Amino acid sequence: MDFSPIPQPPAYPFLRNLPLIESTLPVRSFIVLAKTYGEIFSMRYPSGPPAIYLNSHALVSQVCDDSRFEKTGNRVLNQARDLVGDALLTAFGDEPRWGMAHRILMPAFGTSSIRNMFGDMKDICDQLLLKWDRAGPTHEIDLVEDLTRLSFDSIGLCTMSQRFNSFYSSSMPEFTKCVAEFTTETVQRAFRPSFMPSFLSYMKSKASQFLSLRDTKEDMLDERRALMFDGTMPDDVLTRLITKVDSKTGKPLPDDSIVKNLLTFLVAGHETTSSTLSFCLYFLLTNPETIVELQDELDRTLGNDGEVTLENLEKMEYLTAVLRETLRLAPVAFFRTVTPKEDTKRYLLKKGTTVVVNTPSMQRDPRVWGPDAEEFRPGRMLDGRFSALPKNAWQPFGYGVRACIGRPFAFQECLLFLAALFYHFDVSLVDSAYQLDVFQTITLNTRGMKIYTKRREGRS
Ligand code: HEM
Repeated sequence: MDFSPIPQPPAYPFLRNLPLIESTLPVRSFIVLAKTYGEIFSMRYPSGPPAIYLNSHALVSQVCDDSRFEKTGNRVLNQARDLVGDALLTAFGDEPRWGMAHRILMPAFGTSSIRNMFGDMKDICDQLLLKWDRAGPTHEIDLVEDLTRLSFDSIGLCTMSQRFNSFYSSSMPEFTKCVAEFTTETVQRAFRPSFMPSFLSYMKSKASQFLSLRDTKEDMLDERRALMFDGTMPDDVLTRLITKVDSKTGKPLPDDSIVKNLLTFLVAGHETTSSTLSFCLYFLLTNPETIVELQDELDRTLGNDGEVTLENLEKMEYLTAVLRETLRLAPVAFFRTVTPKEDTKRYLLKKGTTVVVNTPSMQRDPRVWGPDAEEFRPGRMLDGRFSALPKNAWQPFGYGVRACIGRPFAFQECLLFLAALFYHFDVSLVDSAYQLDVFQTITLNTRGMKIYTKRREGRS
């Protein structure tokens, strides 16, 4: 197979492979192309060099090596840099400010720091469940909206001690609306020829909106610094960003970099977690036998008092498997891009080539997952089987030094919410014939799903 030519779909004049990509759900086109062209294919766009897509576990494993490959830009990330520049998620290679932010922030997102956030996460989770309980069993819940509120309020309270109080307003928080618009347009622009006029007008109209978001965050830095003098700074991620210096350079992170990283947490930390939860509910509700098993585990672990604690969350093996299986079938941050640091030998890739890891296709590779790879089967993710998986087969949080910093945060938040929800409530779809409708921005989400929640018998 060495030096085999890389398959490439037929190209159109001028637009090249662009017409092959659906405008509303581009990711679906790449999954279909992977089925047609196999484990690797190349795509050409109207401008720039071709991008190489890897779709199998075997080939993705080859680029999972930080000494030979590094993160690079792609059509979507390049657009997102308009907002957050070289902050953690959008920095390429080893841009110096990425290194500084990474070293300063890693301890703040480590497992023990996240355990300390449990009380605040539970506070927000309880608010949502109380709201659903009070609304009663016939109230139609717009799932995406309320899960967005949940994850947005959690990230605000846990990382910067800000209460956004989204549950107290019938409209969605301005920030989340703005982010949703930005991320949708980012993807549209990424797959639209750059000469199209809406590109410029969009940027003009949005620029002022984002600048005002940045100002808000800068006010937040001043307010926080003011607390330094009376010793009342809360022990959170924002305080760490303001007060710590980088262990390597001995320098603090510049203010504009702090602001970009705060925006990154708010953006990366709320959409991903809420959409993972909405896919999880879809998979559970359309596979009722998994809910029976889950509630059985919750009843055994939580007994009659039903108090979810860190200790009993750790005992919930089936719940953890449900979340892992959700992230396999619905890796909401679906692509990542790397580039070889030097020319490679197998499928000769030149240094600097954009290589896209197509996570949805890779995580359905039948050579790893078997003939039922498309099915939701949490049993395959129970601890023993999960740890026996081939290396790099499950990668919803990316890989290596550029893997997700928020993984422990997201996991804890999702497990807590799912445990509390399914212990106390029976959940059902408003439309029992609901067909999964996937909506794509920078991440994937469900669309149009509504649920009912009803107190389980005997649960107060
Ligand atoms: C990076 C997925 C939650 C902050 C990533 C990457 C993936 C990912 C795949 C790697 C992207 C790449 O290589 O280009 C997810 C998923 C989540 C989640 C599936 C939820 C289920 C969060 C949360 C936060 C967060 C809650 C913030 C608290 C970040 C940041 C990076 C990142 C800052 C960049 C890390 C770096 O390059 O240094 N995430 N994420 N994520 N994520 Fe998450």
